Amino acid sequence: MIVLGIESTCDETSASVVVDGKEVLSNVIATQIKDHAPWAGVVPEIASRLHLVKIVPVIDEALKKADVSLKEIDLVASSNRPGLIGGLMIGVSAAKSIAFSQNKPYIGINHIEAHLYSPHLTCDISFPYIGVLTSGGHTMFVIAKSYTEYEVIGTTIDDAVGEAFDKIAKHYEVGYPGGPVIERLALDGDENAFDFPIANLYKNERQFDVSYSGIKTAVINHLEKYKRKDNYTINDIAASFQRRAFDILYKKVQKAVEKFNIHTVVVAGGVSANKYLRKSFERLTDCKVFFPELRYATDNGAMVAGYAYHKFLTDGPDSLESGVSPRVGGFKISLMPDYKKK
Ligand code: KG4
Ligand code: ZN
Repeated sequence: MIVLGIESTCDETSASVVVDGKEVLSNVIATQIKDHAPWAGVVPEIASRLHLVKIVPVIDEALKKADVSLKEIDLVASSNRPGLIGGLMIGVSAAKSIAFSQNKPYIGINHIEAHLYSPHLTCDISFPYIGVLTSGGHTMFVIAKSYTEYEVIGTTIDDAVGEAFDKIAKHYEVGYPGGPVIERLALDGDENAFDFPIANLYKNERQFDVSYSGIKTAVINHLEKYKRKDNYTINDIAASFQRRAFDILYKKVQKAVEKFNIHTVVVAGGVSANKYLRKSFERLTDCKVFFPELRYATDNGAMVAGYAYHKFLTDGPDSLESGVSPRVGGFKISLMPDYKKK
């Protein structure tokens, strides 16, 4: 089955052609990073306008690179939630227009689920596994039972991990997006220069929840309180924050591995591009740990097209009248609503 996948939830316009959820024939990404950089964050109006400008050329290029015509596409997919509403509407409208004009099925994809699928594009991973989703808007721990069945066991109760990277970088005016900038700065820093605090969330049914607002505030406003040496640099701040930020994830995953006796771990989302994070997960010696290839870690159409194949086989197409949503319920409680029904 040849699937065209479209991604436009935030600041990347992307289209990809993937066969049977695995064989990526093309994956074209038009990034808006330099357009948002002057504001050190994504400006939704600018994002929407740029998606509008880029969506058709990006789809055209993806088809061309894949050497596939619109008629040969079997399914058209687009991320339809969560994300910036303007971008979502543009991607979904493009997907539906193609589906309608070609008389092909359309499917709307949860962007978070597409991220979790991204390592499957290049690795063979068996179920069940513990999934760790680390993006700019979400931080989530799940038990994945099949491609389309997840149980959410924990989320952030405030900021997402990527958001903490972005806000800290913005505060210190070191560049945007914050994740790659902090990773670079940290290479020349002392990761033990500061002992930034980790919030203690040990309440029974919420034991896998995390918080990033406290550590973010500490790094921005209470630096002096946590320093362990005097002549520190921005590199030391970056390295110390990065170490503690990933300790938060690592500790929860270690706990989940023990509690559920599941020894396969999948880490995905934009933050999973971080090499220090990848290295720090090597400490999970009794587990197989999977990450997406770097090009599939941040937002891309291939993960949408790949996941759409499995979602379509399980649940069938969506109506052309189905909508978009800036948020998705269930990420802060126990089960995603989509799966609760089953
Ligand atoms: O998944 P993604 O591309 O978009 C969302 O769905 O949010 O993730 C973007 C987030 C941003 O917060 C960005 O700073 C972070 O991923 N990020 C990184 C790295 N590359 C991107 N964080 C840490 N280290 C990186 N190398
Ligand atoms: Zn994303």
